[in-house]
Formats: sequence, structure tokens, C-alpha cells
Amino acid sequence: MSDKPRVLVTRRLMPANEARLAADYDATLNESDDIMSTDEVIAAADGMDALLICVTEPLDANAIARLPDSVKAIMTLSVGLDHVDTDAAKARGIAVLNTPDAVTDPTVEIGMLLLLGAARRATEGAAIMRAREWDSWSPRMLVGADVTGGTLGIFGMGRIGRTLAKRARGFDMTIRYHNRTRLNFDDEAGASYYTSIEGLLEASPFLAITAPSTPETRKFLNAERIALLPDGAIVVNISRGDLVDDDALIDALKSGKVAAAGLDVFNGEPDNVRPEYLELPNVFITPHIGSAATDARTAMGDMLLDGLDLLLAGEPVPNRVV
Ligand code: DGY
Repeated sequence: MSDKPRVLVTRRLMPANEARLAADYDATLNESDDIMSTDEVIAAADGMDALLICVTEPLDANAIARLPDSVKAIMTLSVGLDHVDTDAAKARGIAVLNTPDAVTDPTVEIGMLLLLGAARRATEGAAIMRAREWDSWSPRMLVGADVTGGTLGIFGMGRIGRTLAKRARGFDMTIRYHNRTRLNFDDEAGASYYTSIEGLLEASPFLAITAPSTPETRKFLNAERIALLPDGAIVVNISRGDLVDDDALIDALKSGKVAAAGLDVFNGEPDNVRPEYLELPNVFITPHIGSAATDARTAMGDMLLDGLDLLLAGEPVPNRVV
């Protein structure tokens, strides 16, 4: 038997990550890339030192209780941890590693894409082009909202929120934010802090959701909160679908209270995304591709394997959550 660390990898990774796994680890790869059920993950975990999972393989407390004793680490190819019960892992002495930093820039790129695409009516523009229905240029055709010089409210000022603020400043946007704790002066970089979520919403013609999914943030954007937004607000979500109450947002998109939304994440993704999001012309959507850029995805895999090497060597692991 090999003395290399035994790693179960639940999905296809970037080529450089798979090459490293093949060379330096006793890795079981998922060649088919089919999503593994929880039972399949638990069965395949037998004898493994570590699991390298994705958001597609949720591990709740029950699943973690059933993992074999050989498993010392759960590595998730995400910054988000809502699909892993970290308390249950901690109780069993299983380390959980994630990928902070590596996802920040590409996720913010998608955030800016969604902000611009929603504001500038990209869904409608692309639809007209693809239907070959563009018959004349007109001063009133597809007139959208001005992003440059606008005001962006950011809910959640962690790495992603702060980087989004930085990019948005490139469009001369004024930044307002709400966070559990106020940032220090340097990190604020001129952004205005709102102690209440309600205050932020009232002052946010553009709103970006960048807070993690936690019991406290779920359904953060509900009907009462949407009512506080300026009329014709534009909403972007690059966090998790469950921060949004879909009924409320869809009603607001239909009424025009929310002029447009840019969404990369959805309740029920991928199979049960609300059909209205796919049909409404004022929704600009992408399929949870925030971190899907070549170097970033490779860096995410490397970050996990670097962390595993440190863990197995008994060293401190910077990206260890528990
Ligand atoms: C993340 O890093 O959490 C992304 O959503 C990818 O899962």
C-alpha cells in the first residue's frame, strides 16, 4: 500500500490539480464528474485520509457522523461553508479547509459583470441580437441605468465585499455598506458604514449581496426589506441564493420596484431555479461561476492541497476553518 496521503476527490478538478494529485497523493478521482450522493461519498471515503469536495456534495452533521475514522480532513473547493457542518466536523476532530482569497478576484469580476449586465439591460440586448430582431439604432432603445458615478450598497464587507468596493470605485461609485462589525479606517477606504441593514437599503440604488449564507443572513432580502430600496433599484447576488426570498424579489422585478437583478447563485440550484429568473427580461443570470477562472480555480485546488500537506505534517494551516 502506498504511503502517500489517500484523497477522495468528488469532482473533476483543473488539469494541474489532478496532475498534482496523481503524482503526490494516492488519489481517487471522479473521472465521470457525476455528482456523488452522500451515501456514495461516505462509502468511497473508506480508508481515505482526506476528502476534497465541492458545493455539490453537502456534508451535514449526520453525514459527518458516518464518515470513517480514517478521514482527518474535509477540504472544500469553495470559500462558502454552508454545505459543511463545521461544528460536527470539529466535534469529530476532522479539520475543515476552504479556499479564501483564491476566489475573491474572479467572484468580484462576476459581480461587476452582473452589475453592469443588469444595469445596462444585457439580457434584452443579447436576446434581440440572437433573435436577429435588431432592425434599427434608436436613441430610446435599451436605455439602462448609469453605473458610473452611482451609489452601491454592499451587504457583507468581507474580502469579496471589499474587493467589489475597490472595483466599483473604478466606476466612480460611492460605496455604502453594512457588516456585522465596522471596518477599520484603511479597509473602509472612504465607504460609509450603516449600522442598520434597513438604513443601508434605503440608501442603495445599487445593492450587492456579498455576505456568507448563515442562519442569520438567510432570506435577508425579503419583501419588507425590498420595500425600503429606492424605486428602480438594481440588485446583485454573488453570495448564495438563500440570502434572497425569491417570491419577494420576483414580485419586485415584475412590478419594477427592482428594475433589474444580476444573479449568479440561486435557491434550488441547479435543477430547481425559479423559472421566472430564466424568463424575466430584467434578470441577467450566470450559473454559479463566480470563481470559474483558470488561474483562480487552479489556485483553489493548490490551496487545499498545500493545506493538507501542512495538516499532515502537523503544521498550522492558514486556510483551516476548524
Ligand atoms: C465559493 O467559493 O463558495 C463558490 O461559491 C464556489 O463554490
